[in-house]
Amino acid sequence: MSLRSLIPKVQEASYLVTITKEVDPYLEMARVINALEGQPLLFTRVKSSPYQVVSGICSAREYLALDLGIDQSQLLFALARALENPVVPQMVESAPCQEVIEEGVNLNTLPILTHLPDDGGPYVTAGVVVVKDPDHGRNLCFHRLMRIGPRQFAARVVEGRGTDMALRKTSGELEVAICLGSSIPVLLAAAMSPPKGVDELSIANALRPTPLVKCRTVDLEVPADSEFVLEGRITRRTVAEGPFIDLTETWDIVRQQPVIEIHCLTHRRAAIYHALLPGRLEHKLLMGMPREPTVYAAVSQVCQCKNVLITPGGMSWLHAVVQIVKQAPDDGRKAIAAAFRGHTSLKHVVVVDEDVDPFNPTEVEWAIATRFQADRDLIVLEDQPSSSLDPSATHVPGQKTRTSKMGLDATIPWHKPSDELRTREEREGFKKVGYREVDITIYRTFAGGESTK
Ligand SMILES: Cc1cc2nc3c(=O)[nH]c(=O)nc-3n(C[C@H](O)[C@H](O)[C@H](O)COP(=O)(O)O)c2cc1C
Repeated sequence: MSLRSLIPKVQEASYLVTITKEVDPYLEMARVINALEGQPLLFTRVKSSPYQVVSGICSAREYLALDLGIDQSQLLFALARALENPVVPQMVESAPCQEVIEEGVNLNTLPILTHLPDDGGPYVTAGVVVVKDPDHGRNLCFHRLMRIGPRQFAARVVEGRGTDMALRKTSGELEVAICLGSSIPVLLAAAMSPPKGVDELSIANALRPTPLVKCRTVDLEVPADSEFVLEGRITRRTVAEGPFIDLTETWDIVRQQPVIEIHCLTHRRAAIYHALLPGRLEHKLLMGMPREPTVYAAVSQVCQCKNVLITPGGMSWLHAVVQIVKQAPDDGRKAIAAAFRGHTSLKHVVVVDEDVDPFNPTEVEWAIATRFQADRDLIVLEDQPSSSLDPSATHVPGQKTRTSKMGLDATIPWHKPSDELRTREEREGFKKVGYREVDITIYRTFAGGESTK
């Protein structure tokens, strides 16, 4: 199933907003998407482009769950299962993404958005880049792509990611395929960093059948139901990339980044371009949610993990809440160390018990207030490799960003301050005491008659 197959589903569920007025991808479209933040949008008339644009389609967990045909609460477990059990996709000879083969490539015909007046240029923001690593095989990764000519992009390639590692192992140019308008399973799998050698397209295929087709001009395979595929090579030439607003909603640093030359463009008939707004919900959810299964898997190796949330307040990248079923006094501390292994960009993590809802920030704060003592339950790790996105971290050009990390064990402390072990009954004393439920309808009367509330 393709990205376009989600459009009628969100429409049926009354989420879709269809915009039939002509909209300019230069600044105007970003403003409209921003104003309707969190809703799936379909722009049917785009200035200077024959293609329609979809946006916001991944801006809420419910849309992703709708696409996968599961309940929202099952997303983490579905992703974790696919990560553990990838299935090799089937190859097909003819594919929707090759219905049209453009004779001459002209990237100016694509409705690539310029988001802000100070942006370095128009940016592709939902492009899934496929390369082959000489040692580990196929790799998928999102890279924002700044259009710098009718056949050229400047790509932001974060150090240490699959594309960067493959580039470092290659002396000349590296073949590339860029998929635009990818299905939800492909978008989610591309945002994961599975162990080396695990194919992200096999993870996507485990989520939902994702047949592949060979590219026309490069030795790479792409999802057959992509809306557009751009084939080309990552060159050794670099240019200044940016300015660009990133996940932090602050300006990212302008850096020298590789140029990609595109020499072939294929697409579906009446192809639909996917645009996501940097720093907004869709960007955040696609970044953070696919890290939850890797944190879950890492924590599950050391204790019983119940749930993981990469929180929106931590820009869906730097902060997590991990919920465990505590069975030993040091499970909370072990869970902290494991969570940092499961998502290496994680900066702050809070571990809570099963009676605390990780999706409710007030409950998490309550657990910190009532169960946590900084001298005993705080773990601080200094000078750690970290995310290049954190403006407060230490950034040295050409080197991995460094940061301090912090883990809060906000689970019920099994030891007393005297170090004596608490009994089960004493531990129960940390739980909230509830009131018995009553049938409120029998109390909702007042002097003037029955209350309407
Ligand atoms: C919407 C979105 C945009 C992203 N932009 C970039 C980017 O510009 N450069 C980059 O290196 N990673 C970017 N990422 C992160 C990578 O896609 C992600 O970390 C991926 O899992 C890396 O996979 P790899 O480690 O297997 O290469 C982006 C992720 C998302 C969801």
